[in-house]
Amino acid sequence: MALEKSLVLFPLLALLLLLLEGAQPSLGKESPAKKFQRQHMDSDSLPSSNSTYCNLMMKRRNMTEGRCKPVNTFVHEPLLDVQAVCLQENVTCKNGKSNCYQSSSRMRITDCRLSSGSKYPNCVYRAKEKNSHIIIACEGNPYVPVHFDASVDVST
Ligand SMILES: *[C@@H]1O[C@H](CO)[C@@H](O)[C@H](O)[C@H]1NC(C)=O
Ligand SMILES: *[C@@H]1O[C@H](CO)[C@@H](O)[C@H](O)[C@H]1NC(C)=O
Ligand SMILES: *[C@@H]1O[C@H](CO)[C@@H](O)[C@H](O)[C@H]1NC(C)=O
Repeated sequence: MALEKSLVLFPLLALLLLLLEGAQPSLGKESPAKKFQRQHMDSDSLPSSNSTYCNLMMKRRNMTEGRCKPVNTFVHEPLLDVQAVCLQENVTCKNGKSNCYQSSSRMRITDCRLSSGSKYPNCVYRAKEKNSHIIIACEGNPYVPVHFDASVDVST
């Protein structure tokens, strides 16, 4: 009797563990899509050339932990508009992959670049506001932005 019970319980337990593991990404590690949003989306503010913006945002979005991330771009447009770029012009990424897309319209962005004299943990940035086409890499299902590749001023 005891053996029969365990024969039933073991597969059930194994199934339960598998299901829990499948649910893990939502509560565990940050997904590439969420990481893109953390590092590159700032829909609610305007572009800025004030270094205070970059110093604050690079820190607030956890890009100054362990090291100062050298360059990063924030996009000041609605998330839906940035996600829509995944359906726009298909271009080659800097790393040679084919899953990059260039926005058909210009977008308001802020480029943050680490100042040359800056030493971790004091991450000091320069800020530059731009109105440019953005190039992002998209992945997954749903197909969403996972990497900011570049910004370009002339449409090709
Ligand atoms: C930059 O922003 C800070 C904080 O918002 C402000 O105190 C400072 O005056 C600004 N600097 C310039 C040059 O606008
Ligand atoms: C930054 O990291 C801290 C500590 O790991 C975390 O609590 C916080 O939610 C993170 N912030 C963002 C914007 O992800
Ligand atoms: C466009 O993107 C798809 C999906 O990543 C890729 O397979 C294809 O080669 C790309 N086409 C061009 C013209 O780059």
